[in-house]
Amino acid sequence: MMLPEDDTEVELSLATLEALHQVSYHAAGLILAPEKARMVQSRLRFRLRETGLTTFEAYLALVRSDAGASERRMMISALTTNVSHFFREPHHFEILADEILPLAQSQIKRGGRFRIWSAGCSNGQEAFSIVMHLLDRDPSLLNADFRILATDIDPKVISFARAAIYPDRMIEGIPENLRTRFMEPTLVKGQPAHKMIDTVRHLIRFKELNLMNAWPMSHVFDAIFCRNVVIYFDGPTQESLWPRFHAALAPQGRLFLGHSERVGNPDAVGFVISGPTTYSKSQSQKSSTSSTYDKQGKTNGSS
Ligand SMILES: C[S@@+](CC[C@H](N)C(=O)[O-])C[C@H]1O[C@@H](n2cnc3c(N)ncnc32)[C@H](O)[C@@H]1O
Repeated sequence: MMLPEDDTEVELSLATLEALHQVSYHAAGLILAPEKARMVQSRLRFRLRETGLTTFEAYLALVRSDAGASERRMMISALTTNVSHFFREPHHFEILADEILPLAQSQIKRGGRFRIWSAGCSNGQEAFSIVMHLLDRDPSLLNADFRILATDIDPKVISFARAAIYPDRMIEGIPENLRTRFMEPTLVKGQPAHKMIDTVRHLIRFKELNLMNAWPMSHVFDAIFCRNVVIYFDGPTQESLWPRFHAALAPQGRLFLGHSERVGNPDAVGFVISGPTTYSKSQSQKSSTSSTYDKQGKTNGSS
């Protein structure tokens, strides 16, 4: 049965919120604190309507059940916050171009590769900002073994990012010279929009990936951007991620976090702070020859 159009009377009790929190926490590390009740209620009402259920208790039973696996994904998608914009926190792009790019250029000259990971990439603005900024500094990267992996738990943002078409209201942060070089004007439902040109699009691989699960990548990254993602996780979940990011980072690489995120005890993980919410491997870790890691993020010593 469909919910009536005015379904504002459908109430989410604190007990059901707590039970939904258990589901979202185990599935994606997402915290649904009691003070988020109104937000959860308003985001999940749409899912109730889509599934034809009339109470949050019935919805809870569905997402808890084996048969509810696909709805669980939709629930996580509805609960994630996908706010992002182009060239957010621009100091990280400067560090990338000033400190990592020169190393990558000499790596490339020796026949090596240059790899970046945007973890929690939302609609792709972060990954496309990285590409545009680096190609602006060094156009020859187009002919190098240079790739970006961009991942997110939310399938909706991944398909949006793959299409790479942004309504004009979303592209305000892009400097005009980069927009005219790397994007072409188009229309979406009659509204002005811009699409990334194919040469830029093909440098990025967008993939669905839940950071709580095993990471299937078998090589390390010269830079990892995981910005404004761990803020939605609790302390233990964040702490479980730091060693995994450490293992996934090349010896001279950088981990970039969002402005309100910190590695709690960087020393203990083998990180040092090397800029604003920027981490590099501590000296002893840099000499490590490990360049691959297993699925739980432990280095395996091969080079
Ligand atoms: C606020 S956006 C950040 C986007 C971009 N990194 C930025 O700073 O603008 C947070 C993203 O993290 C993703 N996310 C949340 N939990 C996740 C998880 N367990 N695994 C992977 N991505 C997750 C969300 O889907 C969302 O797109």
